[in-house]
Formats: sequence, structure tokens, C-alpha cells
Amino acid sequence: MQNDSILIQSAVKKMHMPENLSIGMRVAEQREKCKKEKCDCDYYGFAFGQSPFPVPSLLKRKLQENAHFGGYVHPGGIPELREAVAGFYQRHFRIKTSADRVIIGPGTKTLIYMILNILKGNVIIPSPSWIGYAPQAALLGKSWHVLPLHPEDDYRMKPEKLEAFLTSIPKQQHLLVLNNPNNPTGVLYSAEELEALAQVCRKHGVLVLADEIYAMTSYRIKDFTSMGSLYPEGTFITGGLSKDRSAGGYRLGVCLLPSKGGSSIVHSFENMAAALYTSIPTPIQRAAVSVYQESSEIETYFQITREIHRIMGRVISTSCSQIPGLKATMPQGGFYFLLDLQELKEAFQKNGLKTSNQLGAALLDHPHHIAVVAGDAIMLPPDRFGVRIAFVDYDGEAAYHHYQKKPPVTEKEELAFVRETAPRMLEGVEAIEKFVRQYC
Ligand SMILES: Cc1ncc(COP(=O)(O)O)c(C=O)c1O
Repeated sequence: MQNDSILIQSAVKKMHMPENLSIGMRVAEQREKCKKEKCDCDYYGFAFGQSPFPVPSLLKRKLQENAHFGGYVHPGGIPELREAVAGFYQRHFRIKTSADRVIIGPGTKTLIYMILNILKGNVIIPSPSWIGYAPQAALLGKSWHVLPLHPEDDYRMKPEKLEAFLTSIPKQQHLLVLNNPNNPTGVLYSAEELEALAQVCRKHGVLVLADEIYAMTSYRIKDFTSMGSLYPEGTFITGGLSKDRSAGGYRLGVCLLPSKGGSSIVHSFENMAAALYTSIPTPIQRAAVSVYQESSEIETYFQITREIHRIMGRVISTSCSQIPGLKATMPQGGFYFLLDLQELKEAFQKNGLKTSNQLGAALLDHPHHIAVVAGDAIMLPPDRFGVRIAFVDYDGEAAYHHYQKKPPVTEKEELAFVRETAPRMLEGVEAIEKFVRQYC
């Protein structure tokens, strides 16, 4: 060992910044530069999945009012918030749980990490998937199985395919990741589909990580069903303030524990929280009570923001699908869809783009400047030419006010709404078309 070197654990050494964040930062830096000097090097920002809307006023007001709470609190969360979260899930999703089975944590990312850390056994991660699960499993030295999802199934997990998959892997405790509504595909599972998946999981004793962080953004909210209402004994539900309440920076996530596992699973979380971070910021927890309790103000916020996501998603996905050779999923919740460029694979490969990672890099490069998340960053195999489009690159505050004044009714009005409030995203679709034409 040289004197000036510090030895780093090999699992940590192998880590790198997730692509959505690194591209997001690159886009933000370039935008700062573009503000200072006139330039034509701005990016079309389809990479970073952050809600464009302002933090709900109710939450901001409550944070100010609670700023003086400076003490540490219970590692599992303050009782008022755990109570309010249990009530929220009962009201909206018919989940029967008690406050002591709700854990408040620093964002769902950390809560997911804690679940993976606490549970024995392997993880089953669908492909495609959100960028976050696999690096956490790798950091913990856990193995994972990749469950391929198929375009012909609309990238939905199918019970018979899950059954065959579970039969093909070693018998032990597994944790299946089920993200609904889905990042990156925008798919929303019906109650019937979830019921069938729950039956397979029950039969095989598989636990489920129901990552439902986009639940309240489901465009037809009545169609959203929580896996936790159908498979309460085996489901960990995660959610939080980051997406539907546009407060990712508040770093507040919640986890509803399965009904089985007694108090030992609760204590495992609380003990781990105490060892890692003691408790999460008290003023943020106190403020969050207001947006989990019943309130017409927050319901209006949910209703307007989910409608804007629906409009943006429909218009941008439809415009992408109109480009010859491209197919886009039609999102039903959240703010992403998957853009499939597989039909053009040969043309790309002939021209030097051998993998979907290379495709992502070429889209980002000068002169295209199209920022997307591609390839293994969404758990796609290297020869599957698919990219994730996040449709949130617009001024959310202006769009919110515009919608409040005059909500568009017809499809024509919706297109006009997108033209007016999110012109850059439509230009981005044109840029994608130009890029594709260059190769084909
Ligand atoms: C599917 C999914 N799960 C979890 C997270 C993490 O959210 P949080 O901000 O609560 O850590 C994200 C954030 O992008 C996500 O897209």
C-alpha cells in the first residue's frame, strides 16, 4: 500500500453515478451556461425524472411553521405521521394497517436499501426496470435474477411467465420488485392482473417489494390498486413525497410492512434506522402530516398534476410513435414511457451503434443533444434498442396555472396546451426524428 492511497471496499469501487443523475447534472450545468451566454447547445432533457411542479403550498407553509422542532425523534417516524400515513393508505387504497407497521425513512431509495439489507435471499428484478434496484443489491453483495418482460405483453409481468420463472430458480426466500405505475414503461396494472400475480407469489412464498411511489399520479386514479391490498401478508409497499407531491428534495419516504413477520420486522427497521441516521428531519416529518391527512387542497393538487402528466404523456408518446420505425408505450401513470427503436437495430449497428448504451451516448452527443436514459441503466440487455423518455422538461408552475385557468378538454386543445406550455419537448421529438433519419 502506498502512503497516499486509501483502500476502498471492492463493492463500492465498482459503483458509479446512476445515468439518470449524471446526465441530469450535465443537462443542468449546460443550462446554467446557456443562461449566461447565448448558445445553441442546450439539451432536450428527457433523462431526469423529477416532478416539474412546485412543492404544494400546504407543505411549504407547514414546513415553515414547524421549523423550530430541532430535536431527534423516534427512528421509525413521529407517531402523528405514521398515523396519518396509515389513514392515507386506508382511505385511498383500502389498506388495513396500523401506524406501528409504517416506517418513515429518508426517501424510498434508502427504505428499499434497508428492505434489501434486512431480508435474506435474492431479489428478482424485471427488465426493463428503474435504475435504482440493481446497484443497491450489488452494494449489499446480493444476487439478483433478471425477469425479462416483453413488448408483446406491453412489458407487463404475466402470471404464467412468473410461475415458470419461479419454478426455474432455486427455492429460497425471494423478493420480487413490482413497480406500479411503472418507471420506465408507464404501465399500470389492473386489479385482476395483480390478483393473478399475488396468487403466484403466495404459492411460491415470494415476498413483494411494491414500489408504488407513482401511485397517486395514475391518470385514472380509480384504476390504481395496491398490491398490498391483495397480498397483505407478503408485500412491502413503498411511497413518499418525491413524485406526486413534487418534493424529492425533502427526502421523505414511507414503507408499509407486510402483515406477517410480527414485531421482529418492525424492530429490524427501527434498529437499522437508529444505527444509520437516528431519525429523519423532524420539521419535514411534521410538515408531511398535512399532506397525508385528508385535505381538499392536496386532492386538488393531485388531480391537476396527474391530468397534466396524462396530457404530456399522451401527446409526447403519440408524437414519438408517429416517427417511422419507433414504438412508444402509452403511459397510464407517472411521467415516463419506453421508446422502442428495435426495428432500426440493423441500421444503427451498420452505422457503428452496436448497443443501446452507444445509442444513448450518440443521442446525447453534439449536434443532437437529446438526453435520455438507455440500455443497462434501465436494465435492458445491450442489444435491445430501447430508451426511457421522461416527459417533465417544462415549467410546471406555468403549466399548473395555465391548466387552472382553462383546462383543455378535447385532444386538439390538449395538443395546443402542450405547444403552449412545453414547446421544448415537442422540439425534442423533432430532434429524435432527425437523429433517426440520419441513420435510416
Ligand atoms: C421507481 C422509483 N422508485 C423509487 C424512486 C426513489 O424515490 P425517492 O426520492 O423516494 O428516494 C424513484 C425515483 O426516481 C423511482 O423512479
